[in-house]
Amino acid sequence: MNVAEHRVANTQLLILGVAEQRNGLTVSWSDGHESFFHHIWLRDCCYCDICGDSYSSKRYVVPSDLCLNSAPQSVEIDNAGGLSVRWAPDGHQSHYDAGWLRRNCYDDASRDLRRHKPRLWDCKLSVSQAEVDYADALNTDCGRLTFYRTLRDFGFVIVRDGPREPGSVAKVANMIGEMGESAYTQIFDLTPKSKTRTIGNSTRHVPPHTDEAFRFSPPGVNILACVRPAKNGGDTVLTDGFNIASKLRALEPECFELLATRTHRFHRLHEGKLDQQANVRMIALDDRQEICGVRVHTRASGPMDLAADDVEPFYKAHHMLCQLMMAPENQIRLRLNAGDTALFDNHRVLHARTEFTDPERLMQICNVSREEFHERLRILARKMGHLDEAEQVLASGMAY
Ligand SMILES: [Fe+2]
Ligand SMILES: [Zn+2]
Repeated sequence: MNVAEHRVANTQLLILGVAEQRNGLTVSWSDGHESFFHHIWLRDCCYCDICGDSYSSKRYVVPSDLCLNSAPQSVEIDNAGGLSVRWAPDGHQSHYDAGWLRRNCYDDASRDLRRHKPRLWDCKLSVSQAEVDYADALNTDCGRLTFYRTLRDFGFVIVRDGPREPGSVAKVANMIGEMGESAYTQIFDLTPKSKTRTIGNSTRHVPPHTDEAFRFSPPGVNILACVRPAKNGGDTVLTDGFNIASKLRALEPECFELLATRTHRFHRLHEGKLDQQANVRMIALDDRQEICGVRVHTRASGPMDLAADDVEPFYKAHHMLCQLMMAPENQIRLRLNAGDTALFDNHRVLHARTEFTDPERLMQICNVSREEFHERLRILARKMGHLDEAEQVLASGMAY
């Protein structure tokens, strides 16, 4: 679908009427909905050949070219069912497709509908709800879309019965985007080693965490593939960071507020080789104060760098969040077998591992940026005619 088609697709709704107001237009639709569009918004959004097309980054006008008091000379419903507006004083002519207008309607309810609603979960979630078959996800559009939707909605997805040979993690990763770099390498082997810099290469229990919290922009989607499972233990434990943050917000609003406004110091230092540090928030909120990102990494928490008055309240808040993440009622535990892969949003879902002894256990992990995943999702949703999903506002992660 090209940009022109994108503007006109997806509405059976008709514009029944348009009424001029002091600073905008009220559009009445065949389903009874009314939309209000400010004059300045409409003038700015004109996508004619003179104004240019922001969808292809070829918008030629800049906001300072526009008159803040733009107002129409005339408004009419045109033959195509859209709106034609002639602007004063220069007579500039704009056309707005009906479907495009409706999809960009910005009353509170319409804006809310465009926001993706994550499906929060705890121990009661059945893992089977988040499982997909590798061949389906690889070979069919429907299977691929289910795979993407599961990862989007739950923040994780388990791909079963994929290839088992080392390196296969790249094949799963490539279904959502190009592999990115971590602090170490593209594909990292998680297997017991006698000399190791990371707990991942031990046989120890690993507490819940998000990866690389010491980076301003941590890895987006983690892809963890099982090559050889441990004979006993080494299970994967996941916690929905959005769920525990929501619980904290309900239980102790002041604690939540601290984690969403004060910064926490994370770092990792391997002498002469790696020296990363970030003073960042653990909970990110979007413009509507919804939780849009979580980062937790107790192993890499540095000495807190806080105003003295915040120290004790902050410790209480961190303590409470960690209690919630450690509580079995907030976790799911699952076993990956050879050929299974877990993908999880590293800006939402915390991962952990149970202890094991088997020296042959081998998992491989890599990552893809969240933007790339979102892009693949949008491209497929648009191709399959699901414009609402293609234009959905997804959580921005730790971007705030
Ligand atoms: Fe990790
Ligand atoms: Zn124009």
